[in-house]
This record gives sequence, C-alpha cells and structure tokens, in this order.
Amino acid sequence: MSVEELKNTVAKLQERIQQLEKKVGVTTAAPTTDIAKQLRLVLIGAPGSGKGTQSADLKDKFCACHLATGDMLRSQVKQGTKLGLEAKKIMDQGGLVNDEIMVNMIKSELETNKTCAKGFILDGFPRTIPQAEKLDAMLKERKTPLENAIELKIDDELLVARITGRLVHPASGRSYHKIFNPPKKEMTDDQTGEPLIQRSDDNEAALKKRLVTYHQQTEPIVEYYKKTGIWSGIDASQKPGKVWNDILKCLGQ
Ligand code: AP5
Ligand code: MG
Repeated sequence: MSVEELKNTVAKLQERIQQLEKKVGVTTAAPTTDIAKQLRLVLIGAPGSGKGTQSADLKDKFCACHLATGDMLRSQVKQGTKLGLEAKKIMDQGGLVNDEIMVNMIKSELETNKTCAKGFILDGFPRTIPQAEKLDAMLKERKTPLENAIELKIDDELLVARITGRLVHPASGRSYHKIFNPPKKEMTDDQTGEPLIQRSDDNEAALKKRLVTYHQQTEPIVEYYKKTGIWSGIDASQKPGKVWNDILKCLGQ
C-alpha cells in the first residue's frame, strides 16, 4: 500500500469513527478546522462533463462536503415542496433557478452542515456571474476564500451519449453509466442495493437547452475565475481515472 493510499484509509477511518461516535452520543474534540488545510473548490463544467463523478471521489479523499445544487433541487422535487414543484419545471426545460434561492441554499449549507468543516466541493454552483460574486462575498466574510476553480472541458457532441446513458442513485447522488460505468447488477446501486433511476432532464431535447444555458450563462464564470487567478482547465473527455489525476495535479497533490 502506498503512503497516499494509507493516508486515504486513515482519513476514511477517522470519518467513520466520528460518524459512529455521533451515533452513540460520544462527544470528541471538534473536527479540524485548520483553514489552510481545507479544500475549497468549485467544479465548473457542462452537463455530463463529470462534476458529480469526480466529486464523489474528492469528497472521500479530502473529507470535504459535496454540495451539488442540482441534487439539492431534486431532493426538493422528491419532497414535493413548493420550491421543488417550481424547480422541476425549470430543470426539465433546461433553465436556471433564481440566483437568490440558490445562493441562500449554499449559504445555509456552509453555515450549518458540519461535514463542511474540512472544506467543500461546489458542484453546479455558481452557475452565473451574480452567483459567483455573491459566493465570493459570502466566503470573504467567513475568511475562507475559494482556493480552486477547476473547469472540466469537453466538446458538446460527446455529452449526448454520457447524459442519455446515465443512471443515478437518488439518495446519494452516485452516478453510473449504462456503457461507460455500469453498476454490478443491472439498475441497482452497488453500495446500497437500491434501484437506480434516469433523471427526467436526461434526454436529448432537454440536454440541448441545458447546453445553450451553460454556454450563455455559466461559461462566463470561467473568465471571472481566470481574473481572480484560481482557474485551471482539464480535458474532461479523457477516461475518469485520467481526469482524476489531472484534478489532483491542479490541487497540488
Ligand atoms: P445539475 O444536477 O448540476 O446538472 P448539470 O450541471 O446539467 O450536470 P450533470 O449532473 O448533468 O452532469 P455532471 O457533470 O455531474 O456529470 P456526471 O458526473 O453525472 O443541475 C440540474 C439542473 O438544476 C440545472 O439544469 C438547473 O436547472 C438547476 N440548477 C442546479 N444548480 C443551479 C444553480 N446553481 N443555479 C440555478 N439553477 C441550478 O457524468 C455524466 C455521465 O457520464 C455519468 O453517467 C457518468 O458515469 C459518465 N461519465 C463521467 N465521467 C466520464 C468520463 N470521464 N468518461 C466517460 N463517462 C463519464
Ligand atoms: Mg451532476
């Protein structure tokens, strides 16, 4: 086992111990909040570029929280809340939910979600310049500025196959692919044995609209982060393992 693998195993065990202690009501020292060691990352990329896929591994490696605004909205849809009902229409049409709602959603997570103590991965947020500006202001106030904004770059033509073949485990947000990354058992989550689903916006017609929205409203944040000096770009058309290695390089690992 390499030193890196060993470190990973120890980090995972520590996280598991904390979870178990919490379950049985044991109070231990507060989790490390050494700001210098935190991962504070934004992942930018078109639908299907691999944000969710890579976030799952980043979350494990850095013990950081994974805040995926799309997953949060789908959870609202599932619960049948007013926001969920409104968001579903917008998501299925490939549009964007109101900036203020999204900013408040992230603000509340950063303030209350204890798993964010060791840092965060923002997946699908910010998606507009106003969201990026409000995020910066919010983080400045907390004295925890962003460290990295990584763009997963990929041509639109490659995304149709990825999106139409994607299968999702709704509870965890884990994603699979019918061909590129099939589950061990058909339509079943490897870890929980629960059924997988296809997202209602994962069809060619909705994808076309999502791509237009991405290029018009989200891509400008790339220039925004180039100016602040924290941007790096990665070729996301490569195999997942290669994309992973490139992300780690960007993070200085
Ligand atoms: P969201 O859920 O964020 O969707 P998205 O941005 O369209 O991105 P996806 O989740 O579709 O793609 P992904 O990059 O995560 O790809 P994945 O890793 O799964 O948002 C949904 C909607 O919510 C938005 O359209 C909007 O309406 C609303 N919304 C969300 N956030 C908002 C915000 N901040 N403001 C306003 N509105 C907001 O990979 C895709 C597939 O490819 C998988 O099957 C995977 O197995 C496979 N795959 C991954 N990597 C590779 C690889 N390297 N090679 C081959 N296959 C791969
Ligand atoms: Mg995703």
